[in-house]
Amino acid sequence: MITKIEQLTAEIGNLRANNAEEAEQLRIKYLGRKGVMNDLMEEFRTVAPEQKRELGQKINALKQLITAKINELKDAVATEANSNDSVDLTRTPYPIQLGTRHPLTIVKNEIVDIFSRLGFTLAEGPEVEDDWHVYSSMNFADDHPARDMQDTFFVEARPDIILRSHTSSVQARVMETQQPPIRVICPGRVYRNEAISARAHCFFHQVEGLYIDKNVSFTDLKQVLLLFAQEMFGSETKIRLRPSYFPFTEPSAEMDISCHLCGGKGCSFCKHTGWVEILGCGMVDPAVLEANGIDSTVYTGYAFGMGIERITNLKYQVKDLRMFSENDVRFLDEFKSAN
Ligand code: PHE
Repeated sequence: MITKIEQLTAEIGNLRANNAEEAEQLRIKYLGRKGVMNDLMEEFRTVAPEQKRELGQKINALKQLITAKINELKDAVATEANSNDSVDLTRTPYPIQLGTRHPLTIVKNEIVDIFSRLGFTLAEGPEVEDDWHVYSSMNFADDHPARDMQDTFFVEARPDIILRSHTSSVQARVMETQQPPIRVICPGRVYRNEAISARAHCFFHQVEGLYIDKNVSFTDLKQVLLLFAQEMFGSETKIRLRPSYFPFTEPSAEMDISCHLCGGKGCSFCKHTGWVEILGCGMVDPAVLEANGIDSTVYTGYAFGMGIERITNLKYQVKDLRMFSENDVRFLDEFKSAN
């Protein structure tokens, strides 16, 4: 039996395995229930008692040797499997996370797209503006409350330099450099000194439209806005104009669309009225045309302005305005399909 143990000890040193399966086969051959070590133990039972001590120690040592050897072989083939040699270079790569357009950009693009199909071109102006373009040229009286510090952000040390509180300032910039016909759409960010909450923010986005030519009438305005509403919210959308007041338009109106969630029947979204407000509009006040160098005896025009956040909320029911500026990717991800 001693010779057998010595033979096995020598044999173990030379064991080789090329892969995990071969290593497992060796384990079964030596350490398995019907394996070599098991046979040896069977034989050990028949050994004379005085030899048991010495042989027992040798068998234990052999078993430890085999176990260590097989573990070593298993580790070796496992490391090999993970090494670069076995990386599958033909495997398709992990998907790359795609970014999404911001919902306000998606909706702004949609609005601009609708009006550009109607012949409007894009115009932009500065966000840091002077009082003339934001207020005076737009026919705001010197004591108009919108000029108040509660609404307007002033640039320190320059009381005439402000952050624009509406995109109507771009109207003024277009009129002072172009003669009619003028047909522009002006998207941009505006600022108002409001406490930030779910329903108000100190900055938001507007799209302003301006059309000036000979014989432009309120009917033209109404038709263009109806077309816009139906393109944006569906062909069954109805509009309604309510008289309103803006310093730069006369007459002025606010436009509602039939609630697209309940189809005008009344729901909690439209406060059971069947209508939701979406924009302000009107015929450009002749005083505004004159202030900006356009002959009001020859030309007439209309203007309208809407909040992009408002339109986005109507389309996507975003409950909290702050979501738009928090950059939470979980929120932005929801607009993947709208891109
Ligand atoms: N400038 C107005 C506002 O900020 C919107 C408006 C634009 C109304 C053009 C009429 C005409 O509320």
